[in-house]
Amino acid sequence: MISLDAFDLILFGGSGDLAMRKLLPALYFRHRDTAETGGWRIIGIGREDLSREAYVAKAEASCRKFVPAKNFDESAWTAFAGCLDYVKVDAREAADFTRLGEVVEQRPADTRVFYLATAPSLFAAISENLGAAGLVTPDSRVVLEKPLGRDLASADKINEEVGAVFDEHQIYRIDHYLGKETVQNLIALRFGNALFEPLWSRASVRDVQITLAETVGVEGRGEFYDGTGALRDMVQNHLLQLLCIVAMEPPSSIDADAMRDEKLKVLRALRPFTPADVATRTVRGQYRAGAIDGKPVPGYLEEPGIPADSRTETFVAIKAELNNWRWAGVPFYLRTGKRMQERLAEVVVNFREVPHALFGHGGGDRVPNRLVIRLQPDESLQLHLMAKVPGDEMRLRPVSLNLDFADTYSGRQWDAYERLLMDVIRGKLTLFMRRDELDAAWRWIEPVLDGWEQDPNSPRSYTSGTWGPAAASGLLGRDGHEWRQDS
Ligand code: BG6
Repeated sequence: MISLDAFDLILFGGSGDLAMRKLLPALYFRHRDTAETGGWRIIGIGREDLSREAYVAKAEASCRKFVPAKNFDESAWTAFAGCLDYVKVDAREAADFTRLGEVVEQRPADTRVFYLATAPSLFAAISENLGAAGLVTPDSRVVLEKPLGRDLASADKINEEVGAVFDEHQIYRIDHYLGKETVQNLIALRFGNALFEPLWSRASVRDVQITLAETVGVEGRGEFYDGTGALRDMVQNHLLQLLCIVAMEPPSSIDADAMRDEKLKVLRALRPFTPADVATRTVRGQYRAGAIDGKPVPGYLEEPGIPADSRTETFVAIKAELNNWRWAGVPFYLRTGKRMQERLAEVVVNFREVPHALFGHGGGDRVPNRLVIRLQPDESLQLHLMAKVPGDEMRLRPVSLNLDFADTYSGRQWDAYERLLMDVIRGKLTLFMRRDELDAAWRWIEPVLDGWEQDPNSPRSYTSGTWGPAAASGLLGRDGHEWRQDS
C-alpha cells in the first residue's frame, strides 16, 4: 500500500476517450490500493452539461468495461465514486473558470493537478484561463498529453504558452511508454547489473532493433490519425524515448534532471538526416486490406474518416545512428506500424560475431548472441547463447535463457498510467519529458517530415497482417542485417 497527501486532480477532457479508457480505471486501482484516500478529489471537466451523478454513472460504465471483472470490487468502486465530481467548463470561457475556482476552493488541497487530456490546440487557452482565474498555486502541476505539436515550431508555441503560466518544474509531459513496467526494468537491467555494461557499446554490439508493432488499425480515431501519422504518433516520442534508455550513459542518480540530462545527450547525438538520407534511411508504409488473426480487415484508405487519397503513413522504419564514442557506427533500427502481424514491443540487442570460427563453418558458431527485451504482450528477457548439440560432432546451435516476468512475479501489474499519475501527485518528474528533450526530438524528426512532404511518391503499401513493406527488410539488408522476425 502506498500513501499520498491530499490532492485535487482536475481532469480536462474528463469525459473523453483517454479519461474513460485509461485514466479513470488507473485512478480506481490506485484508490483501491491506497491506505489513506480521505484527501482525494477528482473533478472531471467537459463542455457537456452533465450532473455529478451522470458523470459518475458514465465513469462507472467505462470502469466496468475496462477494469477486468475480477478486479472490479463494488465497495471499492463506491468509495472511489465518492471522490468524483464534474464541472462544465468551456476551455475558452473565462467565466467558467471562475465557477471552477469556486468548486475547488470549497475544499482546497495543497497539491493541485491539472491534467489536460484535450486537443493540444486548447492547452494555451486552458492555461491562460487557469492563470487568470487565480487557480495556479505554487504547488500546482499541469500534465500535458501528447501530441505536443506537429513540428518544432508548433511544439515551441505550446511550450511558450503553457510556460507563461506554469514553471518548467510544474510541467509533466507524458509519454506513457516511460511508465510501462518493462521500460523501468530496462533501466534496472542496465544500471542494476554489472554484467552488461562492459558489453554495452560499439565494441560488442553489432546493431539494435526496436519494434513497436500493433495489430489494431486507426480505431475510430481516423481524423486525428490522418493528420498525425506514425512518425509523429509513435517515433517522435515512444520509440525515441526507448532508444534513449537503451543508449544513454549511466546517470549519477535517478533524479529527474540526472536522467533527463543523459537522455537529452542521446537525442542530441542522433545523426541528423540530410535530404538524401531521408530516401535511404527511412521507409514509410500504409496498410491495405488483409487479415489479422485470420479475420479480414479493411485497408487504411477504407477506414472511416480517411480521405481516399491520403498519404499518411501507418508504418515507419528508420535507421538511426548516434554520433558519440559509445555508439558510433552501430545502427539503431526503429520500426513501428499499425495492422502488423503481431502486437509486439521489443528491444533486440545483437552482439558481434565471434572473431574466429573455431568449430569450422559447418559448426554453426557464427550466430551472434542476442538479448531480447520484450515489453509487450508478455514481459520477458531472453538471452540467446550458443551451445553444443548433444552427440558426437562438435556442432553448435543457439539456445535461449528465458526470464518470464509474469512467472517470476505474481500479482497484478500496474498500468503505465497508474504509475505516471502517482508520480505527478508525488511531484516526481523523472518519467516525464523535459522541454529540451522534446525540442531535440522534433529537431531530429523534422527533416524526415519535410523530405516525405516533398516526395512525389506515396507511402509503400503493405498488406495488413504482415511485418510491413518489403523495403523495411531492404533497409537492414543493405547492411547485411535482418529484423529478428525475418531471421
Ligand atoms: C499512443 C498512440 O500514444 O500509443 C496510439 O497514439 C497507439 O496510436 C498507442 O495505439 C500504443 O500504446 P500501447 O500502450 O497500447 O502500446
